[in-house]
Amino acid sequence: MTPHTRNHAWETRRIYISGAGTTHFHKGTIAEECTSYSADSSFRARRIGAFSYFGKRCEIANTDKIGRYCSFGQDILVGAGPHPTDWLSSSNMFFRANRVADHPSVSAFFDGREIPPFRHGKAMCTIGHDVWCGSKAMVMMGVTVGHGAVIAGGAVVTKDVPPYAIVGGNPARIIRMRFDEHIVDRMLASAWWDIKPNLLKDVDVTDPVRALDQIGEIKAAHNDWAYEPAVMALA
Ligand SMILES: CC(C)(COP(=O)(O)OP(=O)(O)OC[C@H]1O[C@@H](n2cnc3c(N)ncnc32)[C@H](O)[C@@H]1OP(=O)(O)O)[C@@H](O)C(=O)NCCC(=O)NCCS
Repeated sequence: MTPHTRNHAWETRRIYISGAGTTHFHKGTIAEECTSYSADSSFRARRIGAFSYFGKRCEIANTDKIGRYCSFGQDILVGAGPHPTDWLSSSNMFFRANRVADHPSVSAFFDGREIPPFRHGKAMCTIGHDVWCGSKAMVMMGVTVGHGAVIAGGAVVTKDVPPYAIVGGNPARIIRMRFDEHIVDRMLASAWWDIKPNLLKDVDVTDPVRALDQIGEIKAAHNDWAYEPAVMALA
């Protein structure tokens, strides 16, 4: 686990860390270029996509991938893991003995016994491209959030979120879709997040239908449209 305390210049690492607090990157967390992190946060993700940013006090745990162009507000928890609810106790003293076993008052409890591992079958979280996650949201372990989805502020997301759905509440439900079904299909087929950003220069981002037409033209006109960002280990 590597603590970073302040601003890594864009020019040298193309990663920006803001604020006066401490941000932890757990070993194995890899980021594409141009990602941005804020203070008092913790990241355990296999890969974080380019142009994604995170507000203050985000905890990203138990996460496989976070896509490109994602926006995370403040005070967000992704990958919240379970405790056993059908054991004698849900306490981590019993399923993570290593955390407390050297405490003198409990070492006798573990002496000469082995507690089987807590198996919960929950998978890692996966967050798609262009996901906007509002402040104070919580995404439970194993949830997949589709490309283009929006998670409302304060949502508790317990189930997978379809692409381009806006979900909110506790437990989170679909509030509405961002676009009609045929536009969603075109968005997903376009995979615009895989195109070199400089080629998107003249795309009208305020008009999704026109933008999709332009993206089709860009792909037809350029064989080398695929974006291959620099990648760096954060810890
Ligand atoms: C969800 C959100 C994106 C708005 O989406 P929207 O479709 O424009 O929503 P509307 O304001 O039209 O409201 C639509 C419905 O969703 C509900 N809703 C809006 N925000 C909600 C929230 N955070 N949680 C639960 N329900 C919410 C509204 O009450 C309304 O319900 P109704 O149809 O029963 O009246 C916005 O409310 C939100 O949560 N933004 C996050 C802001 C944030 O955290 N920013 C941090 C900076 S990254």
